[in-house]
Amino acid sequence: MRDDALGQKIANLHDRIQGDVGNVDRIGIALYNPASDQLSTFLHSADGQSPLERYQVRLADVPSLQELHRTQSSRTIDDLAILAASKSEHTRRILDAGYRSSYTCPLYARGQLLGFLFLDSTRTGHFRNELRIQLDAYAQLIAAQISQDLSPARALRSAVAMTRELGRHRDEETAGHVNRVAHYTRSIAIALDPGTGLSDEDIEFLFQFAGLHDIGKIAIPDQILRKAGKLSEDEYAIAQSHVHKGGEMIDVMMREFGLANEHHAQMLRDVIACHHERWDGSGYPRGLAGEDIPLAGRIVAVADVFDALTNPRPYKQAWSLEQGFEYLQANAGTQFDPNCVATAERCFDDWRQIYARFNEPTPATASA
Ligand code: C2E
Ligand code: SIN
Ligand code: SIN
Ligand code: FE
Ligand code: FE
Repeated sequence: MRDDALGQKIANLHDRIQGDVGNVDRIGIALYNPASDQLSTFLHSADGQSPLERYQVRLADVPSLQELHRTQSSRTIDDLAILAASKSEHTRRILDAGYRSSYTCPLYARGQLLGFLFLDSTRTGHFRNELRIQLDAYAQLIAAQISQDLSPARALRSAVAMTRELGRHRDEETAGHVNRVAHYTRSIAIALDPGTGLSDEDIEFLFQFAGLHDIGKIAIPDQILRKAGKLSEDEYAIAQSHVHKGGEMIDVMMREFGLANEHHAQMLRDVIACHHERWDGSGYPRGLAGEDIPLAGRIVAVADVFDALTNPRPYKQAWSLEQGFEYLQANAGTQFDPNCVATAERCFDDWRQIYARFNEPTPATASA
């Protein structure tokens, strides 16, 4: 699943910056999500292990970066040791990795904050003021590159969001459900053993796509999805067809947007096509088992069922979070990838916060 096309471009840029200014030992990029005010590590290019992979922080908790955004200007620090007393974990990790001076610049696309660029050097005082204009220009280049690479995913998401708004099920697929599943998914992906093969870039795309798993429900009749009671066998078969319908819709959109060869298109297909597969092979539509089920589908399955259980549906009341956790544990190894559940367990405290943050009153039981 690893796909580092953008990572490769950034690595090439790193080489060019090296050629120009030398001694830039690390390039790091964090992306900003306005909806959650969160910065997430996205890409890095450095010799050896990055000190900041899979790191997330709220912009509100980093006043120095907020200030750069407010003034829309870059900053250089000649001696990071002056920050040694800092309590922030990211500063400590940067220092521990041996970096001594830094350049930081906010990145913008169409006037919106896209994220931040971090350049670090193991030499003190490396980012002299004369370099700054040059580096600011590189930052613009990087912002343009990232924006270009992310825009298909964003365009796709807004097309889907619009379709959902126009559809009859806007109360069914609430923003709350979309956001919670996206965040539960991301927290599992971040906590997974890095050997599983998801890069920070993959995780960002998975986060963007996870909320789209049920888009096919737009094509399922109201009287089935909103039925207050248990579905008949025939009705359930129609409900299950949302997976197939979702796959068709996404293929159409990919064609219309010319995204068929988009690097992460396959991940989006996996999320939609495989979120109802089960580890033991008893799921649908294909009855795939174990690791034949793409990882993105295995992760989203855990997040989606947990969210379905712990929120009201027209056909059931909400379970408590504890009951939701117990359900995941009881069905690890049968319904769910046991490794995904074990990983999710480490995220349960996070999940409580996600649930609280996105738990708007749901109109799922409102009359049509
Ligand atoms: P959904 O409501 O979003 O539920 C997603 C998945 O969460 C379900 O997939 C199931 O695996 C799990 N889930 C939800 N509620 C429960 C529950 O009370 N107990 C258990 N053990 N698992 C639960 P599934 O079954 O493939 O259903 C797919 C979709 O079909 C559901 O999405 C829902 O939209 C619809 N559906 C399924 N059963 C019924 C039903 O009895 N009545 C109605 N009105 N819709 C249903
Ligand atoms: C960071 O905030 O990610 C690191 C600080 C720096 O490199 O300037
Ligand atoms: C976001 O990426 O803005 C939140 C998750 C989503 O809406 O898919
Ligand atoms: Fe579904
Ligand atoms: Fe769902």
